[in-house]
This record gives sequence, C-alpha cells and structure tokens, in this order.
Amino acid sequence: MKLFLYFSILLGLFACQELSKPKQKMITEKDIHSFANPEKTLMNHLNLDLKVDFEKKILSGKATIHFEQHQNANELVLDTDKLVIKQIWLDGNEETTFKLEKPVAHLGQSLHIKIKPTTKTVVIEYETSPDSPALQWLDPEQTAGKKYPFLFSQSQCILARSWIPCQDSPGIRFSYNARIQVPNDSLMALMSAKNPTKFSSNNTYEFEMKQKIPAYLVALAVGNVEFSEIDARTGIYAEPSMLEKSKKEFEELGKMVDIAEKIYGKYEWERYDLLVLPPSFPFGGMENPRLTFATPTIIAGDKSLTSLVAHELAHSWSGNLVTNATWNDFWLNEGFTVYFERRIMEELYGRDYAEMLALLGYQDLLADVEEIGANSKDTKLHLDLRQRNPDEGVTEIAYEKGYFFLRRIEEVIGREAFDKFVKNYFSTFSFQSMDTDNFVKYLEKEVIKGNENIAKQIRMQDWIFGVGIPDNCPKVRSVLFEKVDSAIVDWKKNKKADSLETKSWSSHEWLHFLRHLPKEMTIEDMKILDKAFGFTESGNSELQAAWYVNCIHKRYTPAYKALEDFLMSVGRRKFLTPLYTAMSKYPDMKKMAIETYNKAKKGYHSLAVMKTNEILGLK
Ligand code: BES
Ligand code: ZN
Repeated sequence: MKLFLYFSILLGLFACQELSKPKQKMITEKDIHSFANPEKTLMNHLNLDLKVDFEKKILSGKATIHFEQHQNANELVLDTDKLVIKQIWLDGNEETTFKLEKPVAHLGQSLHIKIKPTTKTVVIEYETSPDSPALQWLDPEQTAGKKYPFLFSQSQCILARSWIPCQDSPGIRFSYNARIQVPNDSLMALMSAKNPTKFSSNNTYEFEMKQKIPAYLVALAVGNVEFSEIDARTGIYAEPSMLEKSKKEFEELGKMVDIAEKIYGKYEWERYDLLVLPPSFPFGGMENPRLTFATPTIIAGDKSLTSLVAHELAHSWSGNLVTNATWNDFWLNEGFTVYFERRIMEELYGRDYAEMLALLGYQDLLADVEEIGANSKDTKLHLDLRQRNPDEGVTEIAYEKGYFFLRRIEEVIGREAFDKFVKNYFSTFSFQSMDTDNFVKYLEKEVIKGNENIAKQIRMQDWIFGVGIPDNCPKVRSVLFEKVDSAIVDWKKNKKADSLETKSWSSHEWLHFLRHLPKEMTIEDMKILDKAFGFTESGNSELQAAWYVNCIHKRYTPAYKALEDFLMSVGRRKFLTPLYTAMSKYPDMKKMAIETYNKAKKGYHSLAVMKTNEILGLK
C-alpha cells in the first residue's frame, strides 16, 4: 500500500512537471490509425521532389524522410496507401530492401524499410495511383476557366499517406521542403508552405515549411490561379475569373487575423492566404497552414458565409499549433476552433450576429444527436474509433458539443479567466499535440484547482466521457431569430409572404426560417414563398441546400432542375449529405438521386463518394 502511494505521488509529480515544462514531449495515447512506431524512429523532416502528370493522373518522384532513432531500430515503418514504391536508398546512396504489407481496412499498407543504427534519412522513389484518395484531378470543364486542368489534395484525416509515404499520425510533426514540377507555364503549384505569387518560367516551384506540422496538414494544389494581395500578410489565390469576386468577399481577411491575434495571441505562421478552389472541393474549408483551401460556395456576394474563413483561420491556433494527438481527440481541434471562430465573428459583427451562428450550431447539434442516437458512444467528445475510419468521427459532436462544453466553462468562470486559460493553453502547448487525458489534467490544474463548486458547475466528465448533451448546456437566445419565429407564426396565420417583415434579414435569418417552415406546408405554399423570395434561384449555397431539402420532402417539382444542377456542380459533402439523405427516403426520389449521382460522381472527391455510396446503399 505504502509503495503504491509512493508511486502515485511520483507519478503525480511527474504529471505536474510534464505540464509545467512547456516544450517537452507529452506521453499521449497511441495512435491506432498509423502503422508508425515513433518511440523507435521519429520522422522530423520531409523533402519532396515530385512531377505532376495530368495525363496519367499521378505524382511521381522522390520523398526523403529524415528521422531520429530513439532505440536502435532495424526498420523504419511508414504509412502508405495505393503507392507504387520503386526503390529506396539509405542516406541517399546505399540501396536497401523494403516490404510493403497487405492493405489493412481503412489504414492502407505499412511500408517496412530496412535501416542501420546510423541511418538518418531514407530516399524513396515512388508514384501515386490514379485513384489516390487524397488527390482530386479535375478536367478543364470542372474549373471556372474551363481551359486548364486542376489538382488538389485533401489529407485530413489519414489520406496524406496516399500521396506521401510518411508517418501519418497527427501526433508526429515534421518540417518540409518541396520541389514540384508542373506540365506548363500556365499552371501554378501551391502548398501549405511559403508560396509563389507568380508563374514560374521553368515550370518548377520550390516550397519551404519551416515549422513542424503533422502530415494531415501537408497540402498541394496545381491550377491556373493568380494571386491578389489584401494587405501585407493576407491575400487570395483563385482562378482569374474568380479573383475579383473572391477578393471582394474576403476583403476582411487581414482584419480577421488582427482580431484573432488580439484574442488568443500571436499568429505564428507569417502569412495567411486563401485559395479558392473549384466547386468539387469536398469541404467548406481546410486549414492548411499559411494557405486555407476553400470552396467557392461561400462566395455569396454579401460576405454572409465568411464565418467559415474565421473558422479555418482559428485553426491556426487550435489544430495547427496545438494538435489533436489522435483522431479520438478530434474534438480538441474542432470544438476549440468553433469557439474561437464565434469569438472572431462576435468581435467583427457583434454579439447578436454571433448568437445567430451559435443557435444554428445548436440546431445542427440536436439534429446530429438525434441521428446518431443520444445514447450512442459516438456522442461522447472523446471518441473510440478503433477499427474504424476516422472520418466517422467527423460529426457535430466534435464541433458543436465541443463548442458548448467550452462555452459552459466560460459561463462558469467568466470570460476574462477563460480567455487567460485558452491563451496559456495555446502558448504552453504550441507545436505539440494534446490528447483528451492531458487536456483533462490541464483543465483540472488551471481551471478547477480542486474547487468543488466549479467542478460541479462544469461537470467535465459528463461532457467529455458521457453520452448526449448534458443538461447544463448553455442556452442560446437570439433576439434576431425570435423575430423570424414570429414571422413564421404570421405566415401560418395568413399565408401572405409580402406582409412578412424580412427586409433586414441576413442569410442566417433566412436559414433559420427555412429550417422551421411548418410541417404542413403545401405545394401552393411553397410556390408563394418561392415567388416572393426566389429560393430556388438563390445564389447562396446554404439557403439553396436548406430550401432543396424542403422541396424534396414536399415534392416541389419546380425546383428539381435547380436541385439537379446543384448536385452536379457542388461537391461539398456538407450539402450532398442532407440532400441525398432526404432523397433516399422516398422510392421515386431515390431513383432520381441515383441517376443524378451517377452523372455527378465523376466530379466528387473520394470522401464525398464514400459518404454518398453509404447513403444510397451503393456498395
Ligand atoms: N478541418 C476541417 C475539415 C475536415 C475535418 C476535413 C475532418 C476532413 C476531416 C475544417 O476545418 C472544417 O471544419 N470545415 C468545415 C467548416 C466549418 C465552418 C465547420 C466544413 O468544411 O464544412
Ligand atoms: Zn474545422
């Protein structure tokens, strides 16, 4: 017993020391989604030299992996997926042997490379497969300019391994250099690194990312894009025909970075630029360091969807500086980011505006909890993704339950104390990874400090390790949405669209309106609303998606053509999922869904294809 106590104290001391020594590596949970063995060999730098072949749809060339050996190892184990490995050398000159194991469900193939105790680098000659899940190769017709092909990568969660042999775990960080050769001088290559602003005369681009980042943040795009500056540290890359529009929409980019810095400390990545991709990009945005990748569907013409940019920018702290150690800890990335995103929006447009976003988020959370099941373990913040694709953890739980948990802490301890805590969290653990257990320890040490009253009010265990939404979830009240609610009541009473007070509504109020249309709406009602407000032809993707879901349930045929066009041109999974899900509920609509999907699929990214196949019950 005594001995046990002694060990516990030692352990406790060790844990405290761990937390107070900022730059020391923490002991975190093992990443079940990587074959890498970082206790033995730890990758710390990558050098890429790749040629882009649009005809064969492959990248080919060499990856040099620099690593440290912690225990004398005789092999380096890397993650790969569908890569063709041609030859491998030790320290640049000595050929070595390797073994590519059989594919394992969700994880790809482990690559075992024979090394010596003195080996510091391996050079791998390889090429990607045309169906590399990370890479999307677009034909010219799928771009805005219709003249040049386009390529982009999407590495989160574990797709980096399908274009780079590497230790593909969010808990492992490395710096990188790259040389990318493109086929002609109208194509520019861009990465999550120091980027060019002009076309290169020799079709070759060089990149450097000095800071250490996890593999899922390595990114590449190649296309006919141009650059336009917003201010000294921000700017936009887009196809020429999209550049002016994009710049207008995101002209507050510089201001957003300033605001973010004021709230949670220095921006550590020097530049912050935005790349506007073609519409098949499967996400709203992806926080690739220094260069956020974004869907063009957020260009609404009125800056109404720019909270997405605030979100990706916020990841420059939560996610990119302090990174979830494993995909089970995904909420640490997204929950903090949604919280920070809303703080940026509050600073930019005021509390009432930010509260609309929070309430829409709460609606999303309720809908997801209902779909997942309030007792499902997948509604816990800390996930268990063993034997599963980490993509299954991408739900509103991480985003919105994560957000409301942090907001609850803010409510309990006050904003000033909360901000101090978050700022310290980012600076203490910058360029490190964080798992849920260590976060719990940190929260106990910095916020709860043994105070039972605070502990009881927060109920950390219920939020993190419990299912469903705890009943101390903060209540959001939006004055602006209350006005929308009364407009809906008016509409129910007299069905007169023109008499509704909608002049001052932003797209958020409209979204709330479309999500709360009365169940008993008739086709005639739909017609009246569409005529008055032009939903079917709306240029706002959020409103289109919400309206089309209503149209599907009500069989409002005048919108079918627009719905089909939308599904044919937009590849953003957030919109495809609810639309295909609604269509799959009705036999007649399901037929239309499958027909449209078969035509549209070619333009979707593998991640969107995977999800849609599941919804439509196709393999
Ligand atoms: N990092 C995510 C996108 C992601 C998550 C890609 C998991 C692959 C796996 C990005 O920051 C994100 O959350 N995007 C959201 C935007 C948002 C405002 C919630 C999106 O794309 O809709
Ligand atoms: Zn995010």
